[in-house]
Amino acid sequence: MTNLNPQGKQMADESMVRNLDAQARAIWPQEIDLFRRYPLPENARILDAGCGTGEISWRLAELFPKAGVAGIDIIDAHLNLARSRYANLAPRLTFEHHSVFDLTFPSRSFDLVVCRHVLHSIPHADRVVAQFARITKPGGYLHLIPEDYGMLHFARGIPDPRDFWHEVAPKFAEATNTDLFIGRHIFGILSALKLEEIHIDYVVVDTIRVPRETFAAIIEAWRDGYVESIAEYTKFSAKLATDHFDQMIANIRDPRGYAVWMVPVVSARVPTQT
Ligand SMILES: C[S@@+](CC[C@H](N)C(=O)[O-])C[C@H]1O[C@@H](n2cnc3c(N)ncnc32)[C@H](O)[C@@H]1O
Repeated sequence: MTNLNPQGKQMADESMVRNLDAQARAIWPQEIDLFRRYPLPENARILDAGCGTGEISWRLAELFPKAGVAGIDIIDAHLNLARSRYANLAPRLTFEHHSVFDLTFPSRSFDLVVCRHVLHSIPHADRVVAQFARITKPGGYLHLIPEDYGMLHFARGIPDPRDFWHEVAPKFAEATNTDLFIGRHIFGILSALKLEEIHIDYVVVDTIRVPRETFAAIIEAWRDGYVESIAEYTKFSAKLATDHFDQMIANIRDPRGYAVWMVPVVSARVPTQT
């Protein structure tokens, strides 16, 4: 049977807590204006599906100060951390154990369903997105970050990060039954669901827009969380994978170096007439 949580170990690792913190600091300053576009009611109901440690759930609760924000995830340690960190925003902000594969919310429950950095890591992402559309109110929005590991670029080096990503992304995806290129496939998934107003914007995490140390912290966390499974699923040993990540980190820290991660931020509206 398909493993519905093939990155469970990495998602629960201490390095993921660091990663989610760094990713939020890198991405949110550009993403916030994309959230501001949605014409939400004042008392909107927002779901943060696969909320992790709640990095974006609490930012959404502050951005929409009368909204109810529900974060759901399957890692209790993350949920507990989020509950204790953001207790000041309860009960408007809640964190509950729910799987995106078993969304028991009634249809048409939410004005906005957010799902960031999750869809690339699970199988059957299309089915999950269909469920997001089901639980969103007519006229409400989906806001997704579907990662794409062909949208990461580093300077040439020794070892060369291009060789790494070219080999690792498809092999890792194949072994885990996931789509690590879903950033370019999500348009088709949303179109097939007949959603409206599909927008694909990009947050540009690069060495000009984002502090080098923040960008480096993301790659360090990826290294610390993923080299073992990369060694299991690809021809790269853990040592070679570590060398590659260290090369990327050195590229980012080099004051004359340039590196970029293009992060697709995707939105779509659920039709008012169904
Ligand atoms: C990379 S983290 C992203 C966290 C958060 N969305 C953010 O942007 O900071 C992915 C999260 O998805 C969660 N996840 C994975 N499979 C899930 C599932 N079936 N149901 C709910 N959450 C899931 C993981 O536990 C992890 O916390």
